[in-house]
Amino acid sequence: MRSFAPLLALVFIPCALPVSWAAQPPKELYSRLVSSKILATARDRRDGKSYPHNTDQVNGIWNYVGTDWWTSGFFPSTLYSMNRRSELCPTTVDKVDWVNLGQVWSADLTRLLIRNSVGHDIGFISFPFVDELTIHPNNETTAEIIEGFSDILAKRFDRTVGCTRSRDSSGTNFQVIIDNMMTLDLFFVASRLTGNKTLIDMAISHADKTIEHHIRPDGSSYHVVEYDSSTGRVIRRRTAQGYADESTWTRGQAWGMLGFTNMYRRTELERYLQTARRMSKLFISRMPPSGVVPWDFDAPIDPPRPADVSAANLAAYALLTLSEQESGINNSTGAKYYADAAVKLLADTVNLAWRPSWRSLFSNGTINKPSDDYWTGIVYADYYLVESGNKLLEMGLGGCSL
Ligand SMILES: *[C@@H]1O[C@H](CO)[C@@H](O)[C@H](O)[C@H]1NC(C)=O
Ligand SMILES: *[C@@H]1O[C@H](CO)[C@@H](O)[C@H](O)[C@H]1NC(C)=O
Ligand SMILES: *[C@@H]1O[C@H](CO)[C@@H](O)[C@H](O)[C@H]1NC(C)=O
Ligand SMILES: *[C@@H]1O[C@H](CO)[C@@H](O)[C@H](O)[C@H]1NC(C)=O
Ligand SMILES: *[C@@H]1O[C@H](CO)[C@@H](O)[C@H](O)[C@H]1NC(C)=O
Repeated sequence: MRSFAPLLALVFIPCALPVSWAAQPPKELYSRLVSSKILATARDRRDGKSYPHNTDQVNGIWNYVGTDWWTSGFFPSTLYSMNRRSELCPTTVDKVDWVNLGQVWSADLTRLLIRNSVGHDIGFISFPFVDELTIHPNNETTAEIIEGFSDILAKRFDRTVGCTRSRDSSGTNFQVIIDNMMTLDLFFVASRLTGNKTLIDMAISHADKTIEHHIRPDGSSYHVVEYDSSTGRVIRRRTAQGYADESTWTRGQAWGMLGFTNMYRRTELERYLQTARRMSKLFISRMPPSGVVPWDFDAPIDPPRPADVSAANLAAYALLTLSEQESGINNSTGAKYYADAAVKLLADTVNLAWRPSWRSLFSNGTINKPSDDYWTGIVYADYYLVESGNKLLEMGLGGCSL
């Protein structure tokens, strides 16, 4: 007999904080455009194997990728987020069966069970199935998909290194990226389904190695750590998408903030809370006065450095999730500090990059600056905007009719 009650309890903890605002959540967060744009994209299905990823720089029209690109789960998961929004804020949402849209849009992702070609990113692609399970806890098909995805991720775990391998590389060169903190949650969901505690041990080992080798003393982070899998030793720390090996790539920092907050939420181990706080405080302290999140905190400002709205929205969501955890341990000072920072980020981001005429909600995302891929809409920038709006409502801090 499967027990989902603890999982649900962890997912939906509404806590009403008596918080007074430093800034108001921007009204765009609950604009009807959120629903109408996402629905228009949902109805514009390609061959069933294509998922919106980013847009062009001028008109904001979506470019599509296949199932085996790491972002393919975000749009299907956004459709489930809209179902949640329809419960939290019904007057702003089109009356359609969002759950069914989520199911239809995620169906083809199950092909990855047979031919996994996405490495650790299977954890990102599991998001819509975790959403499905939250709504239908007895959906055995979804439970089996999640267990299958988790098996794939578990096979990437190496006992000598103590981590799951992020990217495939040759021989004993074993690469772990900070993004990988985000895919560990799959182990907790699968473990609740099967009772297999080994999966949790793997997540804890990976997170502990990440604290040791990815996070710098000041709370900033490396993007890539290369290990030697024959000894478990670090060979090199470097960047891939950031400005320099020693710089702080903002999206990576934000993946770490949310990843460690999730680790704390799942385990209640103090060291994860401390790491989430350190990384979050660093992010807040390095924000420029303009309020615009650059693609890398250390990128030179002349010529002007592109923003990354995906890092901004992800960081806002991470800060709200951390605020919720602080509130859960009665730390109202900490809860308010992170919630205020999140709301300011969202307001500044809307100011910079809200684009009513684009298909995406936002412009000014940076996929990969070293490859000259920036100033576009990005599917996960929009996803974390919707999720942040929902989270604020769940925390009793948002208002549909602001
Ligand atoms: C169970 O979930 C799958 C997707 O994971 C979906 O296709 C199916 O419709 C769901 N079944 C029910 C009864 O909701
Ligand atoms: C638990 O999961 C690990 C990793 O997938 C696997 O090797 C092990 O066989 C599982 N244990 C049981 C009892 O199923
Ligand atoms: C935001 O994007 C617009 C183009 O859509 C560009 O002109 C502007 O410079 C960008 N701002 C930043 C801070 O990246
Ligand atoms: C938080 O405060 C509530 C109400 O006073 C109390 O019941 C709860 O045990 C406290 N939680 C923690 C983690 O201290
Ligand atoms: C409350 O949260 C702040 C910010 O994370 C932290 O610095 C502080 O130590 C926390 N206080 C307690 C009592 O946990």
